[in-house]
Amino acid sequence: MTITQQDDLDGLQAIGRIVANTLQAMQQAAEPGMTTAELDAIGRACLEREGAQSAPQSVYDFPGATCISVNDEIAHGIPGSRVIALGDLVNIDVSASKQGYFADTGASFQIGPGRPVLDRLCRDGKRAMQIGIAQVAAGKPLSGIGNAIGRFAADRGYTLIRNLASHGVGRSLHEEPGEIATWPNRDRRRIQKGLVLTVEPFLSVGGHWAETGADGWTLYADPCAPCVQYEHTIVATERGALVVTMPG
Ligand code: CO
Ligand code: CO
Repeated sequence: MTITQQDDLDGLQAIGRIVANTLQAMQQAAEPGMTTAELDAIGRACLEREGAQSAPQSVYDFPGATCISVNDEIAHGIPGSRVIALGDLVNIDVSASKQGYFADTGASFQIGPGRPVLDRLCRDGKRAMQIGIAQVAAGKPLSGIGNAIGRFAADRGYTLIRNLASHGVGRSLHEEPGEIATWPNRDRRRIQKGLVLTVEPFLSVGGHWAETGADGWTLYADPCAPCVQYEHTIVATERGALVVTMPG
């Protein structure tokens, strides 16, 4: 969507805060011995308490309130009987709607004291997202996001998953202007003032593509390699990006 009036911004910021608080609560609750279904139940309760509806569930009939992906799973992991263990690399993606406004956020983190290579990957994954967000302002080229992230990744020897794009969001989970590359690209479109979009690069130490697993939902990196994702929903203003998925 494109924000042109204050009540649209208010509605978007309200759901942005809800998904951010939900992600934060789940991240804080995640501990060894817990199943991903138990972690999802915490997220579901947070959304319900705020009167929000899980977007993957309502839009795509996803079998869970949130997506929880562990280790070799990189996205769209189905919450279930999998037990979270010390040292696991976990990604939680929370998207939801309230009063017709949608927001989408995600983060990766390690359980317990982390392996240094994964600590670095997590730190740099967050930086890659921030670098992409810093390219967003009204009138700037949409390609700037992926080109800046691509330079950052290449300089540090990382790869980017090239078939999981960022996207327009706001009045539905995935909407105009469609897919937005978080890798080097020649997209000729410009960022419209007020455009609502996500920035969510998938940074990896060797993975290039996401492949769907046997359950029809879970995505795995090909070639198999650790991968992290960080995601915010933002609004393009004349002065830069306004992040709406902030806890508070
Ligand atoms: Co997401
Ligand atoms: Co998204």
